Amino acid sequence: MAIQKVGVVGCGLMGSGIAQVSAQAGFPTVVREVSQPLLDKGLASIRKFLQGGVDKGKLAQADMEKTVANLKGTTALDDLAGCDLIVEAVSEDLGVKRELFGGLDRLVRDDAVIASNTSSLSITELSTFSKRPERVIGLHFFNPVPLMKLVEVVRTLRSAPAAVEAASAWCRAIGKTVVATGDSTGFVVNRLLVPYMLDAIRVFEQGLASRDDIDNAMKLGCGYPMGPLFLGDYVGLDTTYSIALIMFDEFREPRFAPPPLLKRMVLAGRHGRKTGRGFYDWSTNPPS
Ligand code: CAA
Repeated sequence: MAIQKVGVVGCGLMGSGIAQVSAQAGFPTVVREVSQPLLDKGLASIRKFLQGGVDKGKLAQADMEKTVANLKGTTALDDLAGCDLIVEAVSEDLGVKRELFGGLDRLVRDDAVIASNTSSLSITELSTFSKRPERVIGLHFFNPVPLMKLVEVVRTLRSAPAAVEAASAWCRAIGKTVVATGDSTGFVVNRLLVPYMLDAIRVFEQGLASRDDIDNAMKLGCGYPMGPLFLGDYVGLDTTYSIALIMFDEFREPRFAPPPLLKRMVLAGRHGRKTGRGFYDWSTNPPS
């Protein structure tokens, strides 16, 4: 089965990026948000990114127009009815996802692939919310979706190989490299990345080095594009905290335990880029 029409649920940071790369690769793509203002915001961010590409000479104006023409925004879940692949990128809340999977059961074809972009919830658990658990897989994208080349394709013990293959082929068709992984909390990337980011916060918390020295150490010493504290702000410290909690709950290993400073920053509303303040002040350009 080849994927032809794609549905994306959620037009936030990740959903808008996924919808964009799908439409940009020529797939008719329907993206659904719960309200018109949120949908408008997501679609505007897609247009802004595409325009940035045109301005940088990375994208032809005609390709931007084709991408926009391939995209249909909606607030009605029913508009996803004819899709071969649905990628959900709604909030990391099991209740919200349970309701969504129930809604999708009522309207998508039996052979449609239902994929979750969750970064830390169990795909196997999500599959129990569907009447077709064998069609449920994980497709984990990275932020910023249009620039990051990887998608983790997550199979559960029940995933049908045909569903995994169809989704993997679609990921390649949109220009991504696929890494196949089983369903273990954090998959491959976050299993390695999250303890590293938490350790960087512990190093800062213990006063071993300053913020800038920690970030420069990893940028210049290891060639990483961003230092770990900057990356935490970029991903969202609230998101990092909640992923760490889920991973700690799963593995019960100290390396996944969120450091006290991270918890306090989240409680204080210092979530990083999204709230304007984290380890960095994001009201300046570049962040200071
Ligand atoms: N349209 C098209 N191309 C664009 C563009 C646009 N709007 N904006 C930028 N680009 C291109 C640039 O032209 C440039 O291309 P070249 O390499 O060919 O020159 C490239 O994209 C990089 O852009 P910039 O030079 O503007 O920015 P940068 O070099 O600082 O890179 C970055 C930005 C790609 C985000 C880089 O800093 C990076 O890789 N950071 C790490 C991000 C990361 O680790 N993400 C994963 C987070 S974890 C996660 O997401 C998962 C989870 O579960 C939490």
